[in-house]
Amino acid sequence: MDAPIGVFDSGIGGLTVLREIMRQLPNENTIYFGDTARVPYGSKSKKTVLKYSRQIVRFLLTKKVKAIVVACNTASALALEEINKEIHIPIIGVVEPGVLMAAEMTETNNIGIIGTSSTIKSGMYNEFLRKVKPEITVVSKACPLFVPLVEEGLWDDRITEDIAARYLCEMKEYDIDALVLGCTHYPLIKRLIGREIGERVKLVNPAYATTQKLKELLEHKNLCNQKNEKPVHDYYVSDGPEKFVTFADGVLPFTVSETKVIDIESY
Ligand code: DGL
Repeated sequence: MDAPIGVFDSGIGGLTVLREIMRQLPNENTIYFGDTARVPYGSKSKKTVLKYSRQIVRFLLTKKVKAIVVACNTASALALEEINKEIHIPIIGVVEPGVLMAAEMTETNNIGIIGTSSTIKSGMYNEFLRKVKPEITVVSKACPLFVPLVEEGLWDDRITEDIAARYLCEMKEYDIDALVLGCTHYPLIKRLIGREIGERVKLVNPAYATTQKLKELLEHKNLCNQKNEKPVHDYYVSDGPEKFVTFADGVLPFTVSETKVIDIESY
């Protein structure tokens, strides 16, 4: 089936998930939507994130997508469960696959989770982790400043290092051996976070496990694209296409030629 896979995020961070989809599923067509006009979601309420996510899903459905990936931790934590009940195509998020991967990796059964304020406040990661492995202890920390620092391109900067040191110092007191990067932006500063938390701690990027889950799902439901044509990747945003393109070119394996702006509020 050559219908595209819809991928969405509050902005540019979800491109780290799209990058992984392009790597693991090189034959698939995709449509990416970044809600650049309304980012960040990470400080917003469940009600707002659910409203925004519903509008985006409605938009993606007009593009006849065959499956949807919620490439945003905050939307996955706050809106996925509800939306899953409302639509008739498969939809997956990044929280559950990230949790399963972390649960497999840990030996000490002490796991750290970092994410936006809303993701951490939702308690979704802790809830899933306890379901999967009740003996696990979770240490979580909201790291809201990482998002603007990444968006400003300060991926390997002294300021980001200082902020990371402050955010992660508490976590170092626990014997964690896996740290879930529970926000789409964090894989872009993975090296810096790794330096700060120490090499003993494995960093879990949910994008990888999410794409594996997507692959299994497409195979299981007979939805894989069988055509051997060059895949088409379309990009939509709600504002600021120039900044999006610059960022996308730094994250994706090839140049983004065109990004369309849509009025997401009308969906
Ligand atoms: N994409 C969001 C997430 O993964 C981070 C940016 C935001 O706060 O909207 O949680």
